[in-house]
Amino acid sequence: MKIAMIGTGYVGLVSGVCFAEFGFQVTCVDKNPAIIERLQAGEVTIYEPGLDELLLRNARDGRLVFTTDLETTVADADVIFIAVGTPSRRGDGEADLQYIYAAADEIAAAMKPGAVIVIKSTVVVGTNADVRARIGKARPGVAFSMVSNPEFLREGSAVEDFLRPDRVVVGVHDDAGAAAMKRVYRPLYLRETPMIVTTLENAEIIKYAANAFLAMKVTFINEVADLCEKTGGNVQDVARAIGMDNRIGSKFLHAGPGFGGSCFPKDTRAYAATGRKMNAPQTLIEQVVTINEQRKRSMATRVIEAAQKNGEKSVAVLGIAFKPNTDDIRESPALDIIPVLQKAGLAVRAHDPEARVAAEPVLPGVTWCKSAYEAVEGAGITVLLTEWNAYRALDLKRVANLMSGNLLFDLRNVYSAQDLDGTGLEYHSVGRPL
Ligand code: NAD
Ligand code: UGA
Repeated sequence: MKIAMIGTGYVGLVSGVCFAEFGFQVTCVDKNPAIIERLQAGEVTIYEPGLDELLLRNARDGRLVFTTDLETTVADADVIFIAVGTPSRRGDGEADLQYIYAAADEIAAAMKPGAVIVIKSTVVVGTNADVRARIGKARPGVAFSMVSNPEFLREGSAVEDFLRPDRVVVGVHDDAGAAAMKRVYRPLYLRETPMIVTTLENAEIIKYAANAFLAMKVTFINEVADLCEKTGGNVQDVARAIGMDNRIGSKFLHAGPGFGGSCFPKDTRAYAATGRKMNAPQTLIEQVVTINEQRKRSMATRVIEAAQKNGEKSVAVLGIAFKPNTDDIRESPALDIIPVLQKAGLAVRAHDPEARVAAEPVLPGVTWCKSAYEAVEGAGITVLLTEWNAYRALDLKRVANLMSGNLLFDLRNVYSAQDLDGTGLEYHSVGRPL
């Protein structure tokens, strides 16, 4: 079975590499020649733990190739995955499906009869049916199957998530599509990973509902943190205890500076927009979007108020990526917070283990540092924004000695007040007593 993977971003590259690891012949296509040139040269284009080893091995063994030639690849493929971006459309928050439709048109022109076309990108309900109709119109009389196969991997643990998912969701309209998916996911199937075979529409809604629910959980605990701060509570104790109820679950209850990333923000906006459009208001998620945006701004306000109170003029920011173990900065809280700090007249020094290359062009005026210690040197305030392991065991006495001021805002609750004992640092965390 030959697989074509259209789009070699975070999802396409990980999926392509992992299908090759399953033993299939995979051709990854991207329209960006710079990405393909680097991949052909054996250079991994994103930072994702474990990906480089799998990529190099499968490329070396000839199961994984990279090209910009969509037409030839698709003409020879049995299963064609679409893993292109579905960003937010400016203004209304709806998902911009132009890349999906463009890819579908190119695929329609080149596919062989009997091809199985799979949308792995996150697309609003109705898109698979639309794409199916569009391809049917472009190639009348040519048989093909349409499959919706949303992806649930997380950045930073994408390889592990792909190879060991909680479940695989497959939306189909015919048996051929379902059979093809059973084949491509056979290695997981054999390990008894549940495979939900359902309709195209259900699969689309499942993906958005899952992300919306997780984003809602994070937003919920962030508001609990606010209440804890006003009342002397401790959000970690509260989260731990409520999470022990299996109906609630312990995951995604870490309070922080607001969720970011390439998906939660855009997917909650798109989900809410779909609700408005279909006259089925998703009021809860509308609120989640608003609360999360306000939260990022309120984190900047906290730091600015402390700076004004203490006469501080500079801030060290540790962590720019939206979460650890990725170089992805899309909609990262840092991108909202840093410009607000700068506008308030604060000089910003920053460090991130992997995200600097992506961040430098979009955060002008920041002084980039090679280490956390270099970043805190001379800073009045240190803000820990991303919980990279490298920031979990900082020598806080050294940090205190290097800083000109003594305020530490730990917006990920990495440390405890006891860790700060004897350092002279004034500790501010999220939803916990001082
Ligand atoms: P991305 O922006 O990192 O990558 C998309 C790639 O597709 C780009 O390299 C682009 O050049 C390429 N592309 C666009 N049109 C093309 C075409 N016609 N032919 C060939 N290549 C083309 O996107 P991503 O983060 O991988 O996300 C892809 C989809 O997967 C989105 O719908 C997203 O919501 C969903 N998703 C993402 C994640 C994640 O962790 N990033 C997880 C689950 C689902
Ligand atoms: C998320 C989902 O977890 C994946 O299942 C999904 O496939 C993906 O979106 C997607 O559709 O793209 P990802 O964005 O990579 O994955 O990362 P998460 O670990 O979910 O974190 C998202 C954001 O929420 C981060 O900013 C993170 O810091 C924040 N978060 C997460 C919290 O603030 N607290 C938590 O307890 C969990």
